Amino acid sequence: MIDIVPLVAEHHPAIEILLDQRFGPARRNRTAYRLRDGAELLPDFSLAALEGDRLIGSLQCWPIQVRGISGRRQPLILLGPVAVAADREGQGIASALMQACLAAIDAAAGPPALLIGDAPFYGRFGFAATATRHWQLPGPVDQNRLLLRGTAPHLPRLAWVEADTRAAKVA
Ligand SMILES: CC(C)(COP(=O)(O)OP(=O)(O)OC[C@H]1O[C@@H](n2cnc3c(N)ncnc32)[C@H](O)[C@@H]1OP(=O)(O)O)[C@@H](O)C(=O)NCCC(=O)NCCS
Repeated sequence: MIDIVPLVAEHHPAIEILLDQRFGPARRNRTAYRLRDGAELLPDFSLAALEGDRLIGSLQCWPIQVRGISGRRQPLILLGPVAVAADREGQGIASALMQACLAAIDAAAGPPALLIGDAPFYGRFGFAATATRHWQLPGPVDQNRLLLRGTAPHLPRLAWVEADTRAAKVA
């Protein structure tokens, strides 16, 4: 029996171990980490997958913002990392985390979601690289992996994306 539950502070030690296992200790050098640097986790959308007392998956969300050449800032939600324990892969856990997270964002009428990841996986949840071709991040990124959910025509074509360190909570 697997439960998808809101991520709380007591999950953090197990999440750090899971992320080290799945991404390696160099994960903190990734652009996705720089992108959220200084931002606080969004508790309303961040989730843990539990099997009894064991944490077997997690999905974290962070407040970030996109700033166009006019200087106007608009909020986004950075999804990730998404991780599932190696011995529980292929059982739909990441998909369940994604669906629950996106349903919570939609229910709160939250900002558009952005992530850095594989389009063949995240495309099934409505993410694509089309709108982000000319977006810059605080670090290198493969533009084919910079994926926005939905079309978001109100967002700028040329833009800088950065952490929103002012917002502890978006919803
Ligand atoms: C990627 C990851 C989260 C998937 O978790 P999962 O619980 O096994 O995923 P699900 O069971 O919900 O979905 C499995 C499906 O996704 C596909 N899939 C998984 N990773 C994929 C990838 N990188 N690219 C394309 N498809 C992928 C599988 O082939 C499978 O397809 P199917 O449904 O057509 O059979 C997990 O493998 C993991 O933690 N990997 C290491 C960390 C990582 O790379 N995280 C993602 C980047 S933030």
